[in-house]
Amino acid sequence: MISRPIATLVLITLVMSLEVRAQEKSGEAEKFFESKVRPLLVERCHKCHTGTMSKGGLRLDSREGLLKGGETGPAIVAGKPDESRLMKAVRHQDGLAMPPNGKLSEAQITSLAEWIKAGAVWPGSMTTVAAVAAPPLSSIVATSPNDGELAKSLQLWLRADSLTLGDGEPVPVWPDQSGHGRDVSATKGVRVGGVGLPAKFVRESSLLKRSGVRFDVNTGLASSPDRPIDVRGDAALTIMLVMNLQPHEAQPPYDGVIGIGNPAWPSDPGRPLAALVQINRGEDHALHFAGGWNHDASLGSGSFKSHYGKPILLTITKQPGAMRSTTRMFLNGVLAGRDGAPAYEGRDGVPDIQHRTDIGAYLGKALSWCGSIQGDLGEVLVYNRALSDAERLNVECHLADKFGLPFKPLQDATPRAVFTEDEKNFWAYQPVKDVAPPSVKNEAWVKTPIDRFVIRALEDETKAARGIGFQPVK
Ligand code: HEC
Repeated sequence: MISRPIATLVLITLVMSLEVRAQEKSGEAEKFFESKVRPLLVERCHKCHTGTMSKGGLRLDSREGLLKGGETGPAIVAGKPDESRLMKAVRHQDGLAMPPNGKLSEAQITSLAEWIKAGAVWPGSMTTVAAVAAPPLSSIVATSPNDGELAKSLQLWLRADSLTLGDGEPVPVWPDQSGHGRDVSATKGVRVGGVGLPAKFVRESSLLKRSGVRFDVNTGLASSPDRPIDVRGDAALTIMLVMNLQPHEAQPPYDGVIGIGNPAWPSDPGRPLAALVQINRGEDHALHFAGGWNHDASLGSGSFKSHYGKPILLTITKQPGAMRSTTRMFLNGVLAGRDGAPAYEGRDGVPDIQHRTDIGAYLGKALSWCGSIQGDLGEVLVYNRALSDAERLNVECHLADKFGLPFKPLQDATPRAVFTEDEKNFWAYQPVKDVAPPSVKNEAWVKTPIDRFVIRALEDETKAARGIGFQPVK
């Protein structure tokens, strides 16, 4: 397996050269389409595949129509003729035979395949090859959370791999690596009203065996109120978490992963006073960026349910302005929201983040009103600005590398291998079959089942006739 930095480099080089070539190539590709493909589609397919009466629900008069496809799915996969239903149809494979009134010539079929292979360029259409390779994907470079400019806005940096403890040892203090000295510590007996017990260091945690800090429902860590995170009022911020949480039943009925500010205001202040990553169990485990008193940006009912028990990278960015409409949540590098659109739920108040006098930043069950968490935290980052997409992706890439997490933006951009039928039939790729060991004449020589295959071959008369005999050692 190639390491991620090399893979990233290969990808960047690939994308850069694609972009440079895309311009000169697009002229050629358009010419090819206009001379070989469009006339063919018009002549042989449009009769039945345009307008509202399109056969099989398939329109063949726009790139969008082809990508959307018909009743059985997309008609083309750009770049992959062999996976494209349209090619199967014109090659008369998989029970489809298009056009129904006589097969296309081999030259025409080859033209269609070439066109799809080159990205199915369709002049005037938005999604051409160059657009597929658009930044910022092309520029993702794994970047340490405190690299260059990032260091200036890094407010809190907890990393499990900075702890030099033995497996299973308690973590009374988790030192902050941001340079601001905001170490978080157990709160019981340390902070006024503190109930939080120490966490536990786990060398091979549920974060793909990387080290982690394990929380149970009684664990609560908080930093000193004397060093509040520099996020106040209507400030921007970014929170990144590498974690693997388990559901639990402890009260109150929400999980408080990390919080700053004051969600426990005695009555509704009319606007968010906190920034808190919270999972509301009462709403079927909804993921909230909570401000207290339901002034939230919520991903909605059930939104965290499928993420329990899995190592995930959660990033939340917020610009100044109303809570719901300026918050963005990303899971494993991908914008989270209904159908990928950040249409979050919640009351859209402009935050006025106010620091508490008893604790600073808090994780888990630090005070009695805090929500417990159960599971492993690997890394916790807080910045006092909303990172740009490029910065965010770079740091996310670093964290994904470090923890071996699935990083969707790069995975989706990396072309998957396409094998020909011949390659697929290569013996080493075939499923393992159980073959019964054959019977042999010289049963006495069999010591292991494998011997049977060897002895049987040696006993084979045709081979014996060719002089490949059987000579037991004397
Ligand atoms: C005479 C009418 C006619 C012509 C011309 C025609 N098709 Fe079709 N096509 C159909 C019908 C009817 C279906 C519905 C499914 C079926 O009958 O298999 C269909 C279905 C398809 C499908 C499958 C759509 C899906 O998702 O189920 C593809 C792909 C397709 N046609 C491609 C083509 C291409 C490419 C051409 C031109 C080279 C073409 N067809 C020309 C009538 C036509």
